[in-house]
Amino acid sequence: MGKIVIAIDGYSGCGKSSTAKAVAKELGYTYIDTGAMYRAATLHFLNQYVTLTNPQEVEKALQNLEISFHLNPDTGVQETYLNGLNVEEQIRKMKISSRVSDVAAIKAVRKKLVAQQQQLGKKKGVVMDGRDVGSVVFPGAELKVFMTADLDTRAGRRQAELLQKGEMIPLEEIKANLSSRDKIDSSREVGPLKKMDDALEVDTSNVTFVEQVAKIVEKAKEII
Ligand code: C5P
Repeated sequence: MGKIVIAIDGYSGCGKSSTAKAVAKELGYTYIDTGAMYRAATLHFLNQYVTLTNPQEVEKALQNLEISFHLNPDTGVQETYLNGLNVEEQIRKMKISSRVSDVAAIKAVRKKLVAQQQQLGKKKGVVMDGRDVGSVVFPGAELKVFMTADLDTRAGRRQAELLQKGEMIPLEEIKANLSSRDKIDSSREVGPLKKMDDALEVDTSNVTFVEQVAKIVEKAKEII
């Protein structure tokens, strides 16, 4: 079987990560969560008290930013590390979700992370999810997917996810966060979120998880 790049982009909270993970597992591919990288960068900036509007401070913080992924041998789940420390749990908190889009809109941040993402995917056999994977990171990806779902569905799923991790957040707050991130992500100057003409659109509002994964795997197998 050949190896391709599968780029999965879309709005916040429509199930990209879990779908991408399942697609990667089915195909024996590596899953790369680019959102986790922007989240880890945000945590780093918060830890360093970086003023986002100060290019010198941003540049300095970027020089000490090292993000990596490691498989947890007990759970088989890939986890995110920031400068050698496991930050997987921390980066999923609302505190990070509410700041990440502002950090992700900074040109220098995107330049550094996009370069690392291109490096991680250069041998192909990867499923990468994010906002600009099919447009900027791998514009030549053999399969591009654009995922959507209505806001109520997305917010409900995200609330359940956070609750499972012990964070009880009101639905309205989650909705406001998802809408605000979509707005910032879609309107920024560098790497804005947009559906590419050659992307397969998958609306997950009314399909089961198994169905959405199967649709993408089937399409990938046609190409491979
Ligand atoms: O995918 P996730 O929701 O974890 O991403 C968190 C945030 O990271 C997004 O709202 C967006 O601001 C940013 N992001 C991005 N480009 C990507 C992936 C994520 O700007 N490729």
